[in-house]
This record gives sequence, structure tokens and C-alpha cells, in this order.
Amino acid sequence: MDDLKAKYLSLIAAAGDEAAIEDLRITALGKKGEISLQMRELGKMSPEERQTAGPALNALKDEINSALAAKKAALGDAALDARLRGEWLDVTLPSRPRRQGTIHPISQVTEEVTAIFADMGFSVAEGPQIESDWYNFDALNIPGHHPARAEMDTFYTHRSAGDNRPPHVLRTHTSPVQIRSMEATGASTRIICPGRVYRADYDQTHTPMFHQVEGLAIDKDISMANLKWVLEEFVKSYFEVDHVDIRFRASHFPFTEPSAEVDIRCSWEGGTLKVGEGDDWLEILGSGMVHPKVLQAAGVDPTQWQGFAFGMGIDRIAMLKYGIPDLRAFFDSDLRWLRHYGFAALDVPTLHGGLSR
Ligand code: DAH
Repeated sequence: MDDLKAKYLSLIAAAGDEAAIEDLRITALGKKGEISLQMRELGKMSPEERQTAGPALNALKDEINSALAAKKAALGDAALDARLRGEWLDVTLPSRPRRQGTIHPISQVTEEVTAIFADMGFSVAEGPQIESDWYNFDALNIPGHHPARAEMDTFYTHRSAGDNRPPHVLRTHTSPVQIRSMEATGASTRIICPGRVYRADYDQTHTPMFHQVEGLAIDKDISMANLKWVLEEFVKSYFEVDHVDIRFRASHFPFTEPSAEVDIRCSWEGGTLKVGEGDDWLEILGSGMVHPKVLQAAGVDPTQWQGFAFGMGIDRIAMLKYGIPDLRAFFDSDLRWLRHYGFAALDVPTLHGGLSR
């Protein structure tokens, strides 16, 4: 019995994997195992012999069993350790530069604009890109016969024959979000709505899909003066300059009264744009005091509330700030272009950290 014990304990100690352990269990304790056969011999012994041999064999059996279990657990731990070491991964390593993606200038500029207006108490609102005729036009005081409808080169959706309702449109501007947002929250409100808009137009400065950001501030006593200050603050922050001249030019939009287009002073010396100096003016947005009919259409009482709105081309201000000459390149998905004009993924624009580093 001592020999059996010594033999199996050393075999177990030397076993290299769980399969070897299982083999040893069968050779020692299986139906025809060496120790099991010894147990069967007990029947042939005299009662005195059995009294000593029985407990001794049982003890041996227990000892071998627990040696097998202990070795099996140790092998399992070692296997897990080896696997953990083999599959170890340093998640703090930087990604491989050649495969690193970049933030598209449109996304970057949207974040910059959002950071600036958020700092002035505006929150972000969104609306659908497939819009009803009502929200895109009528509610904004652009009735069916209005020339602005034709000017916008609208994409219409298809209605089946016999369906006489006006077709939905791909929204031609972000202004419908003014209505949706006022319906949802009522006055007072301060929101911006960045997003995609669509018009059937294609050349160096037009693409059928482009981006706008709408602004809206409604309260009891909001005036043109507030609009002017907000836009001045915006332009300074956005172009990261201490001083800018902006010019309000009388204009006309159906959804504002009075209306103004806003230009910023700039120079094109040597072919590069400088904002804030020079003798040229550059148009960057349309704006005005929200028309009473627009407030009414959104369920806001125009005898109680008033405010300003503006709409700005995101692609346009991105081109201006980052010196991007051709709008169409924004949407070509050319990797060389994206690497050149893209922004580092982890540099989130903030006013305190810097908009564009
Ligand atoms: N919706 C106008 C456009 O797409 C831009 C605009 C002009 C928006 C004046 C406004 C505004 O909110 O007040 O051309």
C-alpha cells in the first residue's frame, strides 16, 4: 500500500495537464483500477486482516482522490495564468497613427458652435430631416404661392396617385426646428439647432446636402440689440479673435420682421482670408426678429412674447475658418483630404480648453 501511495503521488505530481490527471484517476480508481482491484481483494481476507486493510485502503483512496483534485485545480490555475499572460493587452497604448480616424471639419465646427452658444445659455434642439410642408414652409410664413418656395430648389417626396396632400420635403433649412421646439417647450426659450439641410444645387459652393445652425431666443423683452451682442460674441469666439466688426444689412425673410443679413469685416490679402481686418465684407448669416405669424403658428402668443432668430451655414463658416476652398470636397470621403483637414479625435472643443488647437 505504501508503494501504491508513493507511486501514484509521484505520478500525480508529474502530470502535465488535466487529461493526464483523468488517465491517472482511471488507472488508480476506475472500475478496473489498481486500487479498486485491491478493494475487491478485501472479500477474500480473514476478518482480522480486513479490519486493518479496509480502513487503510479507504484512506489511500481518499488521499489519491484529494491529490488528484488538488493537482487538477493547480493545473487549471496555471492554464488561466498562461492565458491571461498571452492575451494581455495594454489599453493605454495610443492607437496606430496610420489607422487613426479624424473628426470631420463639419463635426468639429458643429461642436465649436455648440460650445460657444451653450456658454451663452442656449441648448441644442433637433428636428427631422424629412419634414412636412407645414413645418418647412407654411408655419414659417411661406405660403404656397410664395416665391421663396421656388428659390429653395426643394426636394419633394413622392405621393401615390390620387393622394392630394402636399408631399413631404427634405427640409431646405433648419428653421422648421424653431416651430417644433416652441411647440414642445413654449416660451421662453433659447435654442440652437444644428443639422443637415437639402437643396437641389451643385457647384463649388453648393452641395445638395449641407449644414445649417438655427438660433432662436424668445422672451418678454428680447430685442435686436440682444441679437447683435450674441452674434458679436459668437463671431469673436468662433474666429478666436479679440475684435471683429460686424455689419447688419437690411434684408427680407418671410419668417422675420425686421430682417437682416450679417457680414463680418475681412481681408483677402495674398489670397488668404483674415477675419476682423481689411476692407472686404463677408456674409455669414441671415437673422431678424421672429415674425408674429411664426410665433402664432407655433402656439406662442405674439402679444406676450418676442425674440430673435438666425440661420447660418456651418459648411460655409468651416471653409472660412479652416481655409477649405471647395465645399464639394467635404463630402467626397477622400482619405487624404480627411487626414489633412480632420481633427484629433480626443480634442473636444471647449471655451476653456480652446476651440481649435
Ligand atoms: N432659413 C434661412 C435660409 O435657409 C436662414 C435664416 C434667415 C434663418 C433668417 C433665420 C433667420 O432664422 O432669422 O436661408
